[in-house]
Amino acid sequence: MPIPSTAAERRRAERAARSGGEPELEFAGGTPYARYGAIDTLLDLQRPRTAEPSETSFIIATQVMELLFSLLAEHWERAREAMERDDTAAAVAELRRGARVQDVLVSSWDLLADLSPTEFSRFRDALGDASGFQSHTYRRLEFLLGNTSAAMVRPHRGSPRARAELERAMEEPGLYDAALGLLARRGLPVPDEALRRDRTRPYAEHPGVREAWARVYADDTPGNDLFVLAEALLDTAERVTRWRQRHLAAVKRSMGAKPGTGGSNGLRWLAANAAEDVFPELWSLRTEL
Ligand code: HEM
Repeated sequence: MPIPSTAAERRRAERAARSGGEPELEFAGGTPYARYGAIDTLLDLQRPRTAEPSETSFIIATQVMELLFSLLAEHWERAREAMERDDTAAAVAELRRGARVQDVLVSSWDLLADLSPTEFSRFRDALGDASGFQSHTYRRLEFLLGNTSAAMVRPHRGSPRARAELERAMEEPGLYDAALGLLARRGLPVPDEALRRDRTRPYAEHPGVREAWARVYADDTPGNDLFVLAEALLDTAERVTRWRQRHLAAVKRSMGAKPGTGGSNGLRWLAANAAEDVFPELWSLRTEL
């Protein structure tokens, strides 16, 4: 039997002893569980607009992914901060935790795997002009990945909180900016243009950055913390692409090549995005090694 170390743990141990190990059944008002997790509020947030049952799966998939996007942003921001203070071990640990979240995000597409085009067409009009493209939480992730863009803040002009969040995310370094800064501080030849890039535009691949990473990869032992960090960044990048590819497949299955509710041409626009490598030099250097 473990020794209880806090007053609350002692109280729980005494209660379990009193009840013979059975859980508590009596509560005045609602349960502490419902209060702590705001469960009633949570379960009140799914409001299908049609009688089509699969609309609920669509809404829940969207909400689950939004929550996970926001959790992932926290891990990535902590990873970025760790790199800024040269703590590669902490950065790798946060990227690994983020990768677990990304794995759940990728498998969340299973919620929509059986959505047929007929079912989708029964509730698609109810979306109006709503599109995941307008998700500021997702956009914050893209900014953290280096895909910063002043144009992508525009849809959120009318929403002070989202706008402020994205403007801050555009000013602050992303994960890759922080990694390149770390490489430079460790004496690797990272070009100045890459270190001081224009953050109102997406990061653009640079041969000098590939050269700097190639030097890191010259020592691929676990003792080389920069190599371990590079591989953790690549794990992150690969999972981003997996999510994009599953999104693409869900779109292809449920509506083929129809235009999107957000105004894009749909499949073609998403396919072009899915084909873009995240942290490009970490991929392109592999051809040369
Ligand atoms: C069958 C279900 C879905 C379809 C058919 C679909 C379709 C589309 C389309 C066509 C776009 C391109 C922009 C547009 O014109 O609308 C888009 C973008 C997007 N969708 Fe979905 N989507 C689906 C489910 C979801 C879910 C569940 C999420 C989770 C939040 C999501 C998140 C996004 C995001 C974040 C973008 C922007 C991607 C980017 O900027 O690269 N989508 N979606």
